[in-house]
Amino acid sequence: MESSLPLILDRTAGLPLHLQLAEQFRAAIRDGRLQAGHRLTSTRDLARELSVSRSVTQAAYDQLHAEGWIEGRTGAGTYVTDVAPLQPAVRRPVRPPAVEKQLLTLRPGIPYISATPDPGWRRAWREVSTQSPPRGYDEAAGLPALREALAEHVGRVRGIACGPENLLVTNGTVHGLRLLLAVTRRPGDRIAIEDPGYLNAVVAARDHHLEIVDVPVDEDGLRVSELPLEVPAVYVTPSHQYPLGGRLPVARRNELIRWARRTGAMLIEDDYDSEFRYDVAPLPALAQLDLDRVVHLGTLSKTLSPALRLGWLVASDTMITRLADFRAESGDWPAWPMQAALLAMLRDGYLDQSIRRSRRLYADRRTHTCATLAPYGQIIGQDAGLHITLVLPNHVDDHQLAADALQAGVVIAPLSEYRRTTPGPPGLVIGYATPSTPDLHKALDILVQVLQRHEPPRT
Ligand SMILES: Cc1ncc(COP(=O)(O)O)c(C=O)c1O
Repeated sequence: MESSLPLILDRTAGLPLHLQLAEQFRAAIRDGRLQAGHRLTSTRDLARELSVSRSVTQAAYDQLHAEGWIEGRTGAGTYVTDVAPLQPAVRRPVRPPAVEKQLLTLRPGIPYISATPDPGWRRAWREVSTQSPPRGYDEAAGLPALREALAEHVGRVRGIACGPENLLVTNGTVHGLRLLLAVTRRPGDRIAIEDPGYLNAVVAARDHHLEIVDVPVDEDGLRVSELPLEVPAVYVTPSHQYPLGGRLPVARRNELIRWARRTGAMLIEDDYDSEFRYDVAPLPALAQLDLDRVVHLGTLSKTLSPALRLGWLVASDTMITRLADFRAESGDWPAWPMQAALLAMLRDGYLDQSIRRSRRLYADRRTHTCATLAPYGQIIGQDAGLHITLVLPNHVDDHQLAADALQAGVVIAPLSEYRRTTPGPPGLVIGYATPSTPDLHKALDILVQVLQRHEPPRT
């Protein structure tokens, strides 16, 4: 019997002939040209008709058979089935990407990353590429040698007396925080969080169904005296309050530790950008004061890149064991190559060198940013980190200001975005690290024009 279908095989198409054939049968059954019960040409006749080997037609029929489009009746030929096979999911057409206007960003949080990787970076990755991976799962707390190196690092840089048993390698601050909440908190537990504060910490607490207690912040950081007694956990950014930028003074740090010892609460210290401070003395990490009450979170997101998704958590050895046990079951810890590369970077002094270089770069940018914006409001939080906050008069709508800046080509964060229930003045949170220096200057020039429309410079 001759095939009633016009079948075309293209030997130059790159798609195997049996798949081309099968697809033409599918299309014919789908659109009704071949009806249920229709008898197909035998594989031998079809092969002859198409001048292909029989294995091609056989493979096409086998495929259609396996997918349920056709059925064979022993000794009686091959027929189109009367059960309509499941239609394949229709792929949604991909919308062509919108042509984006080139935006300059002053949003806080991302460090400057040079387009050319430097030798220390390349050396670390080369070293990783020459090693075989571990034979099985590696340790849930992190590579032992890396935990050792990190203990040395946080001891030297943050003054925290600890050993590898106090260290857990994480995929960054938020990962560490979520792990800690999952292991130590129960739904409905209360947690105090700075207001205004870090949005991702708030989201993490909400996701764990915790009741969030908003604690006010002033230019020195968390108002410790306003912590209610019955809160079993506090999330705090003492080295550079996010977003207002206060550095918690020693007296308040001591008060916070005394409060935690009295109430038994856990203090979660987010030390996200402590590596950067300008012309001011270092302040002790809370973890330096009491590792039994404090869980300390460090990250590479501000020193090397947030894309590395790598950080560390420092806590008592019993807490580390609890967290590592949980992780051993969830299988959720940083990949071996990342850990191995960080180990090489720490060992070779690349991280220290990179921080020193960035600090010099940011110091100049910070000075320029403060000088440019000082006429438009009160600058706070400029002693540390990668951002400053420009506090504006009460009548300014900072969301509108950010929208106008965006319209003019600059992305910026309004301060109100970080506020929850504690009222306070409007403002802008300005990251000066991300763009190149010429782009920073350009972005600030644009921002000044927008600011002038909202708030004339103070004389
Ligand atoms: C307050 C605060 N903590 C932590 C981080 C970094 O989080 P991660 O280490 O998860 O990238 C940021 C980044 O913007 C931050 O603003």
